[in-house]
Amino acid sequence: MKMWSGRFRQPPDSDFERWQRSFDFDRRLLTHELAASSAHARALANAGILSSSELISILQGLERIAEQAAVSPAFLEDSEAEDVHHFVEKNLVHLIGDTGYKLHSGRSRNEQIATDLRLYVRVCIDQLRAELAECLDALVEGAQRAGNAAMPAYTHLQRAEPVLMSHWLLAYVEMFIRDADRLVDCRKRLNFCPLGSGAVAGTTLPLDRRAMAIDLGFDAPTLNSIDATGDRDFVLEFVNALSMVGLHLSRWAEEMILFSSQEFDFVRLPEAYSTGSSAMPQKKNPDLLELTRGKAARIIGAATALAVTLKGLPLAYNKDLQETQEPLFDAAETVLALIPLVTNWMKAVEFNLDRMREAAQSGFMNAWAAATYLVQRGVPFRLAHEQVGKAVQLCLEKSCELQDLSVQELRQLNPLFDEDFYSCLDLTSVLALHDVPGGTAPGQVQRAVADAKRRIEFIREEAHAHA
Ligand code: ARG
Repeated sequence: MKMWSGRFRQPPDSDFERWQRSFDFDRRLLTHELAASSAHARALANAGILSSSELISILQGLERIAEQAAVSPAFLEDSEAEDVHHFVEKNLVHLIGDTGYKLHSGRSRNEQIATDLRLYVRVCIDQLRAELAECLDALVEGAQRAGNAAMPAYTHLQRAEPVLMSHWLLAYVEMFIRDADRLVDCRKRLNFCPLGSGAVAGTTLPLDRRAMAIDLGFDAPTLNSIDATGDRDFVLEFVNALSMVGLHLSRWAEEMILFSSQEFDFVRLPEAYSTGSSAMPQKKNPDLLELTRGKAARIIGAATALAVTLKGLPLAYNKDLQETQEPLFDAAETVLALIPLVTNWMKAVEFNLDRMREAAQSGFMNAWAAATYLVQRGVPFRLAHEQVGKAVQLCLEKSCELQDLSVQELRQLNPLFDEDFYSCLDLTSVLALHDVPGGTAPGQVQRAVADAKRRIEFIREEAHAHA
């Protein structure tokens, strides 16, 4: 039986009817729909609408549906169900008879879908945080393994200054920790229960909204029935948070692709996550990285689709809201599948440390350190900058590095240059010079690694606390 046929004289056009259904995708929400329905049934019993035997039979019926769905995927191949809410009602009535129709007393699918989606997003957030913690572990382990290995850092994609490889990897750690934080924040804001909001004005039965909220692990009931049934901010916020994850993964992937090219030769692509060419026998291509970069577009696309779907909607529920589901599912499933692959790639990758160190020692990346030498001897920085710039010019003419200039040559530029200048220029000294919190001096990076580990442990504990 349809959920709404009474006032109609004509059946719906069959093409239209099939086209407007959502069961093909909202079947993902079945467990949440069953949990929310059980909470609603308990509230109905407490309000005296269901007898205790009716409650028991409804709860058992709902459980039976969960079991059947778990054992037989074919059970979900229902050609008649309009959506997941209709599917549950139909099957419940099939299992326990007309008492099943009592479950829909005092509720609307508008509050149900709003509730199911919040539950779905909440589970995704907890899974994602656990996955991000693993990914962060892999990065920090890489940072620890790197020890004091150095590499060039780039600005404008031109060699800028040497840094510790671990410092570079920790830059990604910061991005992914921010992403995990954003998800926590999103979870806090969504964890309120729409049940009892009815279609738009609140339910018509004296249901204990607080009890339903607690039952489903929400912090409290939502505060306005119009907002609760018309709101998908939490979906948009979540997918926006995902698009930041995608964006960070994409930047990471791009850098790895670049670094794996023969021109850089910093990164040795793990064979298990690369593919060959059907034409060129020598090729090893960074497919995992390229697809990671490509998936980001899809996630950002989902976030855009959601924003555009919501922007013109009057309050409260409109069927347009059904269109928020597929971008949500697609973005969530894309990122959930992506992070473990990226984590394993990070564990498998090898770096060409010799090549990176070599690159960290040429191209005048000690020029700022050279200017600092003069600053420490009282020279105004702008002048020191100019004089070291001239030294670089001289080196370019002679095809050498700053440390290859003689004291005489240097003194032409500034008489304060002395023999001790050279010891400021080697890689170790240049790295050690950046001795501030957040800088690349080895002691600072060691502390940063320890600090990152603590913060990641916290993310993991929090994710598990909710799981
Ligand atoms: N399948 C619908 C959706 O996803 C459920 C809510 C239907 N509500 C309604 N008034 N037709 O949005």
